[in-house]
Amino acid sequence: AGPCDLYSTGGTPCVAAHSTTRALYSAYSGALYQVKRGSDNSTTTIYPLSAGGVANAATQDTFCASTTCLISIIYDQSGRNNHLTQAPPGGAASGPEANGYDNLASAIGAPVTLNGKKAYGVFISPGTGYRNDKASGTATGDAAEGMYAVLDGTHYNDGCCFDYGNAETNNKDTGNGHMEAIYYGTCSIWGKGAGSGPWVMADLENGLFSGQSAGTNTADPSISYRFVNTIVKGKAGTWAIRGANAASGSLSTYYSGARPTASGYNPMHKEGAIILGIGGDNSISGQGTFYEGVMTSGYPTDATEASVQADVVAAGYATTSLTSGTALTVGSSISLRATTSGYTTRYVAHTGSTVNTQVVSSSSSTTLKQQASWTVRTGLGNSACFSFESKDTSGSYIRHYNFALTVAASDGSKQFNEDSTFCPQTGLTDQGISIRAWGYPTRFFRHYANVMYIATNGGPQFTWDAASSFNDDATFAVSTGFV
Ligand code: AHR
Ligand code: AHR
Ligand code: AHR
Repeated sequence: AGPCDLYSTGGTPCVAAHSTTRALYSAYSGALYQVKRGSDNSTTTIYPLSAGGVANAATQDTFCASTTCLISIIYDQSGRNNHLTQAPPGGAASGPEANGYDNLASAIGAPVTLNGKKAYGVFISPGTGYRNDKASGTATGDAAEGMYAVLDGTHYNDGCCFDYGNAETNNKDTGNGHMEAIYYGTCSIWGKGAGSGPWVMADLENGLFSGQSAGTNTADPSISYRFVNTIVKGKAGTWAIRGANAASGSLSTYYSGARPTASGYNPMHKEGAIILGIGGDNSISGQGTFYEGVMTSGYPTDATEASVQADVVAAGYATTSLTSGTALTVGSSISLRATTSGYTTRYVAHTGSTVNTQVVSSSSSTTLKQQASWTVRTGLGNSACFSFESKDTSGSYIRHYNFALTVAASDGSKQFNEDSTFCPQTGLTDQGISIRAWGYPTRFFRHYANVMYIATNGGPQFTWDAASSFNDDATFAVSTGFV
């Protein structure tokens, strides 16, 4: 049985079931998600390998070979057509895409294996979000519901709000109690749990709650599992937060009890829209990774949730490589040469803090050779990827800031570490490598007017996101460093 079969047996059936990694009903063999590729904007649908099985990631890999791909639809497996698509602008923010829509997630930002079979999760960078404002069957008013979501417990931030669950149908903050969603991260504007986080909390609108009252509730622990199972459920007068290691063991209850006493939360005013990766009013500062999750009709029992947790554990989530192509050796000095026709004598270099491309050869000055050489380091923000330390300024690394590459001294912060972590993959033109930003996997090292950025393949955000010449500009030949 899959998670939604177990919820059905428990009398609290799924009314929305989303996963890019696997079928959530043992008999489900329909669409899991849709990807859209950069080369021609065409789409394809990813199905399970077999009924009830893991996603057929090979379909994606073939379709997306030598180009970029975005997750354009996350299908609802419940039969209610509660699909998640690109989120529209909201009361708090417009997204970076056309007409204020949010970004779509990269299709390759969150590779995993399930019992050894490759699949991809949904890597949400700030600015990315999915929504369904016309969901059917989800809880409204004070009606009971349950939710679980399997997330990457190591991918989070303190922005508002990486959520999955029930939210407003008009993309605005319509008041206390108008949301009931799982939140995961270290946002402590409202409530927080024990330690420094990240925490599972409930986004009930105008507050992330770790317990009955706003503020610190020490029974809600900091969690650090690579795969985390998160639960929020609510019914008249009562709600709960639960969590577990999604790869082993059982659920713990972090809060179960009365609704907040502040006005608006009892009774609740749930509206029944579904969000992923954003707050109810399209607050888009959160980040996180989603693998699977559901919403139910009715308040699931702890026993039902225990069986769902066992099913999640049995799915066998595990990590896999984040890189491909030419292997880089930690500690070695490398150079990165542009491959765009007309620019092939230019190398990734820096002038002060600006990262650019410059013409470099064996007869260049030692200064320039140093500026065009980089020491490969283990990724400061994720050890499965890499960082690039300046050869002439030790302790300074290539990072992105406002989507431009700069060379900056490490301040040791989580933000610096993440912004200076890059995941090389087989070059988009099938030569050399393309270098993906770990935290923005739709974005790659790209030269544009001989200056270096992290760029996405088309879109209105920046001039350097131009689709023209993208694959060439984002593919680099790797050699031993000049010095
Ligand atoms: O409740 C926290 C956030 O506050 C909600 O997600 C958002 O709608 C509002 O800004
Ligand atoms: O480069 C994009 C973002 O810009 C970085 O993640 C952040 O540090 C800066 O605001
Ligand atoms: O960086 C040089 C060129 O500038 C790129 O190839 C092109 O995309 C841009 O016009």
